[in-house]
Amino acid sequence: MKNIVVLISGSGSNLQAILDATANDHNGRVVGVLSNKENAFGIERAKKVGIDTAVIDHTRFESRLAFDYALIEQIDAWQADLVVLAGFMRILTNEFVQHFRGRLLNIHPSLLPKYKGTNTHQRALDAGDTEHGCTVHFVSEELDGGAAIIQAATRVERGDTVDSLINKVHKLEHQIYPIAISWFASERITLENNRVYLDGSPLADTGYLYRV
Ligand code: GRF
Repeated sequence: MKNIVVLISGSGSNLQAILDATANDHNGRVVGVLSNKENAFGIERAKKVGIDTAVIDHTRFESRLAFDYALIEQIDAWQADLVVLAGFMRILTNEFVQHFRGRLLNIHPSLLPKYKGTNTHQRALDAGDTEHGCTVHFVSEELDGGAAIIQAATRVERGDTVDSLINKVHKLEHQIYPIAISWFASERITLENNRVYLDGSPLADTGYLYRV
């Protein structure tokens, strides 16, 4: 049974999808939820199902590194096998990334490698893209640049707005994040030389394409 720790900063709708999916999973269970914000709703979601929580407020630390070491200490205390970033709105140091290399996942609201960083929905609209979506990837030192595991796309329709795209993409996120986590928990995916292998076969650079 793999111990999963989820890092959040806000609503935690992805956390909820992960909690629901792992509730009956024999390979992985969420052992702790960590937030940098005291009032993050995700903390309530975890408490409701009796999962350990911790709040580590980044504003109390004098450097990014000192904050990250405090995160590492808490995550290690939970004996995490897998660390899942689910709307955690802090940029992590290389030291943090290296500590958890190969067992640190993120979900990003774009079809990576398109639109790393923020404002992904607006950027997809501005570019006139006909497709938009989300990607689960291993975290590397490059922001949103780690090897992709799974990706899901939705059509951008005439009349779509940032809000409508946020909704569409969130629905996809709630499907693909639990899949990626279950693959990790059941040891179906590995990371070797920055390439992801699923059941021993290398995945494309954009990861496994999840068909809705
Ligand atoms: C998601 O859109 C995710 O792609 C991004 O942060 C958002 C988190 O949403 N990394 P929620 O807190 O899980 O609802």
